[in-house]
Amino acid sequence: MTARMKFPDGFVWGAATSAYQIEGAWDEDGKGESVWDFYCRTLKIAANKETGDVAIDHYHRYKSDIAMMKELGIKSYRFSISWPRIFPAGTGELNQKGIKFYNNLVDELIAAGIEPVICLYHWDYPLALMRREGWRSRESVKWFADYAIVCFQAFGDRVKTWLTMNEPWVDIFAAQFMIGKPTIEGMSAAVKASHHYMLAHAKAIAAFREIVKAGKIGVAFALSPVYPAADSEADQAAVKRWDGFVNRWFLDPMLKGHYPEDMLTFYRDRFQAPEIHAGDMELIKKHPLDFIGVNYYSRKVVKSSKAEPVLESELVEDRDQTWATNGEVFPQGLYDILLRLDQDYNHPEIFITENGTSFGDEQLKDGGLEDNWRIDFLKKHLEACDRAIQQGVNLQRYYVWSVFDNFEWVFGYSRRFGIIYVDFKTQERTWKQSARWYQSVIRNNGF
Ligand code: FCB
Repeated sequence: MTARMKFPDGFVWGAATSAYQIEGAWDEDGKGESVWDFYCRTLKIAANKETGDVAIDHYHRYKSDIAMMKELGIKSYRFSISWPRIFPAGTGELNQKGIKFYNNLVDELIAAGIEPVICLYHWDYPLALMRREGWRSRESVKWFADYAIVCFQAFGDRVKTWLTMNEPWVDIFAAQFMIGKPTIEGMSAAVKASHHYMLAHAKAIAAFREIVKAGKIGVAFALSPVYPAADSEADQAAVKRWDGFVNRWFLDPMLKGHYPEDMLTFYRDRFQAPEIHAGDMELIKKHPLDFIGVNYYSRKVVKSSKAEPVLESELVEDRDQTWATNGEVFPQGLYDILLRLDQDYNHPEIFITENGTSFGDEQLKDGGLEDNWRIDFLKKHLEACDRAIQQGVNLQRYYVWSVFDNFEWVFGYSRRFGIIYVDFKTQERTWKQSARWYQSVIRNNGF
């Protein structure tokens, strides 16, 4: 196949996963409980009461999984560390067996010629710390920084690309939408927590600069461009608020060193939060990140609504559009957000840290899986990336979500995002058509 769409030389092709979604071994080798163990095992919030107890058993199968990634040809693999595997109680006693597992994983990746990229925190927060108020407690800043330091010291000699957090907005705010609509109390607690989260991130970066030589660190943001439902002034104002809520609230401090004024005023008027202490903003300003990680799935469309007391606006879901698990399929949104980041944040280095799709369950047929719709989705999004690069956006990398089908949070095992199919009963892995296609994209540096 001759490549039509060529990406720049040195463009990095990768794939991403997260600990809770793939590892299993939920209580093995001294691992402590995470909030997701608690949500699934005790509260049973996932579909069919499923859990990540075994997930895709990557904890035991990492070697053969890495061999598959090598065959796929990915140059870089983004995974996350399970914090309670390292610190079973979140803080205090260290679990050397946890360190050993990730050391083995890192070494195996490097031996396979794949660059390891570590995300420190992808939602599986230590349960013991959540019982101590989690991010709502100011102590959480130190808990996270201490954990980050241990990881930088243990793996920073070999791992040079890091992410502090995955999807701050989803982690801190979006849970509100899972249990209904945002409430004043919920939002107050979340805004307060978000400030501690921001400080924890800044403290980790400060330590990173000392410990990891010649490394780069960023955040994987859940970014969605926001569009008005109608071309009215009220809807335009709603767009600005939602953009502040979802995108700017985390981007601005982490890149520019200050909260967006409009949102600070909006939150303060309603929630008397966040609680900013002397020195906090200086710390945040002093430690901007090196690159923006973009997790892109869909856009948001909003309309003004006085009936909504918290945000005075609401999301509109146009179900007539092609719809995947994570929203409307809208590749133009990726182009729009990339150009906007380039303009608003001074031409930053950008990685697509997640992009992919699931339309629900999928079945193997004749030992294979024809997921042409996934290939089509990926193509359209890569075309958007290419157009953005042509416009001068400094896009360096692309990580598909995900290498393997895995545990998709509240959806349990009913949503398959992998380019490699996993039989969750036998743990057998089978390449989908999209895996073959991605392999050729990597080979050709385009398609
Ligand atoms: C993202 C999450 C990731 C996965 C994909 C489908 O929001 O970061 O863990 O669930 O969605």
